[in-house]
Amino acid sequence: MRILGKIILVLLLLVVVVAACGVGYLYLVYPNVPAAPAFKIEPSPERLARGQYLSDHVVGCTTCHSQRDWTRYSGLIKPETLGRGGDKFDLGGAGVVYAKNITPAAIGSWTDGELLRAVAAGVSRDGTPLFPLMPYPHFGQMSEDDVHAVLAYIRSLKAIEGAVPDRTLAFPMNLIVRTIPTAAAFQPRPSPDSKVAYGKYMTDAALCSDCHTPIDDRGQPLPGRDFVGGMEFIETGYRVRSANITPDADTGIGSWTEQQFIDRFKGFETPSNAELGDAERRQNTVMPITMYAGMTREDLSAIYAYLRTLKPVVNRVNKFPDAK
Ligand code: HEC
Ligand code: HEC
Repeated sequence: MRILGKIILVLLLLVVVVAACGVGYLYLVYPNVPAAPAFKIEPSPERLARGQYLSDHVVGCTTCHSQRDWTRYSGLIKPETLGRGGDKFDLGGAGVVYAKNITPAAIGSWTDGELLRAVAAGVSRDGTPLFPLMPYPHFGQMSEDDVHAVLAYIRSLKAIEGAVPDRTLAFPMNLIVRTIPTAAAFQPRPSPDSKVAYGKYMTDAALCSDCHTPIDDRGQPLPGRDFVGGMEFIETGYRVRSANITPDADTGIGSWTEQQFIDRFKGFETPSNAELGDAERRQNTVMPITMYAGMTREDLSAIYAYLRTLKPVVNRVNKFPDAK
């Protein structure tokens, strides 16, 4: 027995040592991203205008990094919190993350390189690997010019003081998160003349797939299920599920004309600030459609053109299961 006891002890020690080495390795090698580059982004008027367009109407920096009012349709931004962060995202069993303060009150002393590394490669100034709810895997594949424009604009936001709680990530997510940041792989923005390629670029930048393409438990898109919808959200206080936006005529948006598609967004260009009643809250949406409404007709038209090229998939979604 004594010998068996010793063997078990040695085996247990071995397991502990191997685990410790594994964790040590994760800390030594990851996040595996080059140091922040040294350079300066010139805030020219064109760049600021492009950055504001992208941030406020396409990529949604100021949608996630502001506090939302779910008593209004699509959760209007509380204007006094623009860029100040603080909204909480519950990751189920994996933990809780908070959108950070990205006004100059918080990131004013960061270099442009540090900002770029955080936004396009997922490593914060102090080396913390960011959770990919912050969509750096998308931003690292945009055009570098577009990302520079967004950063120039973010720097011009009004400074708002305000601390944000620290995130908590449960095991094993606290370790996995270290392996997710990767060096940015910027891609040129296709010319609008190549309408479908340009539309895909805008669809990726606008993060449509984040809500419309279901993922497996490792965060990978389910094969053959691009844009079929059905993902459930509860931020509004009620369940809402994303729509099927593949060109299936019956259960997707195959029967929508381009005009109907564009109008659906443009209809919210001057959003209503009316407080929703109970029945309306049950049909409130998490899609930031009032933000997308500021996209140009050309950009919406290109997104429509790209979505038309997807494989039509039959998937009937009950969008508002709690509707009365
Ligand atoms: C879908 C929501 C979402 C969008 C869109 C988004 N972010 Fe974030 N961002 C987050 C969250 C959540 C965090 C915190 C992640 C964490 O703590 O791991 C974060 C972290 C950051 C950080 C790191 C701040 C710090 O103190 O470490 C920066 C900088 C940042 N975001 C800038 C941006 C910019 C610029 C954009 C637009 C290009 C953007 N974000 C778009 C949710 C978002
Ligand atoms: C934050 C999550 C989220 C994002 C990002 C998002 N959507 Fe949605 N979308 C939803 C949800 C939830 C619904 C269902 C509720 C509703 O109709 O608004 C929906 C509905 C739609 C509808 C209505 C379809 C129908 O059958 O009524 C269209 C069209 C659509 N989305 C297109 C897009 C496009 C294009 C993008 C990117 C520019 C996008 N969505 C980004 C969550 C999202």
